[in-house]
Amino acid sequence: MLPMKNKFFGANWKMNLTTSKATDYFKTFEKLFATHSLTHKDIVFFPPMQLLAFIHSQFNQNIKVGSQNFYPQKQGAFTGEVSADMLLEDGISWVLIGHSERRSHLQEQDSLIKQKVLWALENNLNIVLCCGEDLSIRENGQEKTFIQKQLLSALEEVNPSHASKIVIAYEPIWAIGTGKVATSEQIGEMHQFLDHNLSSLGFNTSLIRIIYGGSVNAQNAKEILSIPYVDGTLVGSASLNPKDFFTIIDA
Ligand code: 13P
Repeated sequence: MLPMKNKFFGANWKMNLTTSKATDYFKTFEKLFATHSLTHKDIVFFPPMQLLAFIHSQFNQNIKVGSQNFYPQKQGAFTGEVSADMLLEDGISWVLIGHSERRSHLQEQDSLIKQKVLWALENNLNIVLCCGEDLSIRENGQEKTFIQKQLLSALEEVNPSHASKIVIAYEPIWAIGTGKVATSEQIGEMHQFLDHNLSSLGFNTSLIRIIYGGSVNAQNAKEILSIPYVDGTLVGSASLNPKDFFTIIDA
């Protein structure tokens, strides 16, 4: 029997929506949630930095807000960056680390991702650590070796006592924003592989959620969420529509 974990639903808004559009979004979202129980579900919004404090002010404690980025230093001359202390003081308790778009567009390397993971966990932030292979790696059958390397590099120095603050998002790059979802077999196999690797690193995997991201939408969420070892979803474009994101959470 696999352990029961709260399902995790992340909305990664990327560089989308403005304050006025977010205000309209939450008017609809609140109506949908008025009659809905959030028991056993963790919902975290990752809006652009500019909207973090505003979105945090919209919610009670059931819904959390996370940052798409931060810098792993206390404070100082790091133009354009935000610190863990700044986020925590404003009630922002989650961060995304290692998203493929930051790895490719902002040249974030495994070494920076490792520093961010260690810094976030030591400074009381919860993390969604993203991993995922591109199409050529998948076509060459190298996806497991690649994911194992990403996971090991990011987590090898992490104290396993941090397990409950860690969510792993498997997001195959070829499935992000393409409408091309990985098959149930591909997702199930990789999530089980991740679970075993986390155990080998000394983590109690009944405390770590492993979630899937890549073209998740209102139509396919139910099937994805029924795959063994899938503890939730990280949603990009479909999370920009409150009705679609609600349907995914409700699936
Ligand atoms: P899409 O849901 O738009 O494919 O994006 C997935 C993603 O990158 C979530 O982090």
